[in-house]
Amino acid sequence: MARCFVTRELPGPALDRLRSRHEVEVWPERLPPAPAELASRAAPAEGLLTTLNDRVDAALIEHCAGLRVISNYAVGHDNIDLAAAAARRIAVGNTPDVLTEATADLTFALLLAAARKLPEAIASVREGDWLTWEPSRYLGQAVGGATLGIVGLGRIGNAVAQRALGFGMTVLYTGGGPGPDSISRVPLDRLLAEADFVSLHCPLTRATRRLIDADALARMRSNAILINTSRGPIVDPDALRVALVEGQIAGAALDVTDPEPLPADDPLLSAPGLIVVPHIGSATRAAREQMAELAVENLLAGLDGRPLPHQVQAVI
Ligand code: GLV
Ligand code: GLV
Repeated sequence: MARCFVTRELPGPALDRLRSRHEVEVWPERLPPAPAELASRAAPAEGLLTTLNDRVDAALIEHCAGLRVISNYAVGHDNIDLAAAAARRIAVGNTPDVLTEATADLTFALLLAAARKLPEAIASVREGDWLTWEPSRYLGQAVGGATLGIVGLGRIGNAVAQRALGFGMTVLYTGGGPGPDSISRVPLDRLLAEADFVSLHCPLTRATRRLIDADALARMRSNAILINTSRGPIVDPDALRVALVEGQIAGAALDVTDPEPLPADDPLLSAPGLIVVPHIGSATRAAREQMAELAVENLLAGLDGRPLPHQVQAVI
């Protein structure tokens, strides 16, 4: 039996499997443990199951003398200092693949909602403003025939590309790949200049932090809509606010923000043409339960001294 600290209740039966093998403490609150709480609970643990809210930095790793495995309940792992873990030979796991389709679906839901002005249309019905059928209100953008630029053609980027082809879009991409012949790899500048929709699917690294800054936004078309279901810090939020206010781009639909959560009084939220949802890309019951299965498999493997089924490499 090894001691494990799990920073959140997870959906589905996976944690029961962990409990049947090991001594497990699960943080019971809605909000994640604050850093000092995380440090004190994790200190005696050999296995740690974290979410993307938990910052597992070098100091925390140093603090946990007996730690052997960190299992992140997410495909992204920018919340973990991989080099510090590798230096201690602590294995790090993540939960890829099982959330790819769910995240691609949410990406398309955001793209369509922004293109067709769904938030305004829904609000107007509730506000009693549906007075008649109107020829010139809620005029959105065509999706079929438009060009989608995918920044980061990994698993999720590819799944988004498939959906876009089904909608009759032209698909450009940069980073990752190689993609199928039906889509075209182009430099980022060209993608930004030609795309009607720009969707971000790269991991957050030093190279991609603020990739979408004022310069990048200025290269985009004035009808363009930015969609981000990857990580918030890839976009400069101040530059995005200015671009929306000044009409440099037509809209943005964000599942991830910087900071996260975004406070209700954040200035970005008053920008026109903005949709924000609270980081729900993987939030289908099936995906979240399968992520729990993978996270527990990774943890069990690490505690047994076996290679993790989904091990993250320390090269960023
Ligand atoms: C969610 O953002 C994830 O990385 O799984
Ligand atoms: C993440 O899973 C990706 O490769 O897109």
